[in-house]
Amino acid sequence: MQTPRATAEHSAAQTPPAAADQTPWWRDAVCYEIYVRSFADADGDGVGDMAGIEQRLPYLADLGIDAIWITPFYPSPQNDHGYDVADYCDVDPRFGTLADFDAMLARAHGLGIRVIIDVVPNHTSSEHAWFARALAAEPGSEERDRYVFRDGRGIDGSEPPNNWRSIFGGAAWTRADDTHGQPAQWYLHMFDATQPDLNWHNPEVGDEFEAILRFWLDRGVDGFRIDVAHGLFTPVDLADTATGDEASIFHQPEVHEVYRRWHRVLAEYDGDRMAVAEAWTDSPETTASYIRADELQQAFNFHWLLAEWSAEAFRDVVVQTLEAVGLVDASATWVLSNHDVVRHVTRYGGGETGLARGRAALLTMLALPGSSYLFQGEELGLEQVDVAPEHREDPAYFRGGSEGRDGCRVPLPWAGTQPPFDFGPGSGQPWLPQPAEWSALTVSAQSADPHSTLAFYRRALAMRREVNRGLDASVVLLDTAPGTLGFRRGDGLVCVINCGGQPARLPDEAGDVVLSSSPLDEPGTLPADTAAWFRAATATRPG
Ligand code: NOJ
Repeated sequence: MQTPRATAEHSAAQTPPAAADQTPWWRDAVCYEIYVRSFADADGDGVGDMAGIEQRLPYLADLGIDAIWITPFYPSPQNDHGYDVADYCDVDPRFGTLADFDAMLARAHGLGIRVIIDVVPNHTSSEHAWFARALAAEPGSEERDRYVFRDGRGIDGSEPPNNWRSIFGGAAWTRADDTHGQPAQWYLHMFDATQPDLNWHNPEVGDEFEAILRFWLDRGVDGFRIDVAHGLFTPVDLADTATGDEASIFHQPEVHEVYRRWHRVLAEYDGDRMAVAEAWTDSPETTASYIRADELQQAFNFHWLLAEWSAEAFRDVVVQTLEAVGLVDASATWVLSNHDVVRHVTRYGGGETGLARGRAALLTMLALPGSSYLFQGEELGLEQVDVAPEHREDPAYFRGGSEGRDGCRVPLPWAGTQPPFDFGPGSGQPWLPQPAEWSALTVSAQSADPHSTLAFYRRALAMRREVNRGLDASVVLLDTAPGTLGFRRGDGLVCVINCGGQPARLPDEAGDVVLSSSPLDEPGTLPADTAAWFRAATATRPG
């Protein structure tokens, strides 16, 4: 694979200016995830694209975010919607061209928005040139050594080499044919069979990914979201594991050396370039091991996303997260939704209750120190869509590994009273059907309503910018009513969330209301399913 180099005019010169106080921008940024095929479609083919993103950037600037993370847009057969990359240094024609990417990046930077792109180092697409060469080569060849090929077990090698399971369901191995068309060696794929795992023990793989990072850094991107960051290495002995699942296979110690190398690469560039790990872990401590001072800048805090709707669960995650990131002097991140999970309004019960809780959880995370990641459409209060079987596209659904992720990936409703809701020009329909009820939830409908979820997100993000300025990162938990979590952030802000089923008495530390996720009708109390920010009262609780 020849990695093309960017030319000099693609330098990072246009990167938005650094904050005056020298704090790296990402330490407290709000970053908005764009699932590229579902955000905005400029050419009317029913699939989102670069030009669509560019056209809608003013909307994002107005929303008040600091950065966007764009999911993979590289040439790909799209078996896993771009997480199966056939060429890491180009744009898939469905999404545009490199020139369209550059134009989008320049426009984003012009609006003060940073751009994070996805890098997918755990596996390539089976349509990648390296894999085609590996299949055409003999067992034991250099070409095969870029992937994980092994002989099978049992008579004629017809059993997979071990008991590992794909995260998408089924065996993590597929048997390839030899050059005469006879079933021969097996290759490892922790996801779909069209996503063969790379062999990170082969130094060529590391060199290639350094070149890929540099290709995009030279073009001016501000950072990377690292797909399956915890999965690059698997145990070398390929031994059976007790459960065969990824928990006992991933998090191999060698992966940290890769991120130390990437840290050094990022540090060579100006503008506080960064990387955020997608690493699913069993504890905030393990998450923190990816963000030590000489490794990655951030890792998604999935513990916040996975917490059930309960003050105790939220409290535990806040305490453990801040403790863990404190130990490595990193900043925390917070996230409620992304393109792999059921949208949080639905997780929290759906309907009005789910929406009220979703708004409350958002306000709580925005009050915490660190940065927050939003998923497109959550600012509209969108719920998970029940996608009919004939429209499903997610390989995890077909392999039986999950109930499917299509339901959170339905294209955004922008305007109008019926699908496609201005997702693309004309009346052509998007790649997944949108529910008719979304007519009340379009960006245009919600922009006209000061009580809408969109208006609330805009207020919350604007207020966060104002409040965050000058607040230190300290968090002090307050002694609050049962079913609630309250904390003081720095010396200026108090946040309380009520997850109990009843209105709850506010703590004495809660002074004037700054913002609430639902109306506060009765002074001194916080309604159920509500969070609010207050100025910290100077008076403290007696005793
Ligand atoms: C995590 C991505 O977020 C997900 O969408 C993808 O299917 C897997 N990694 C495999 O790349």
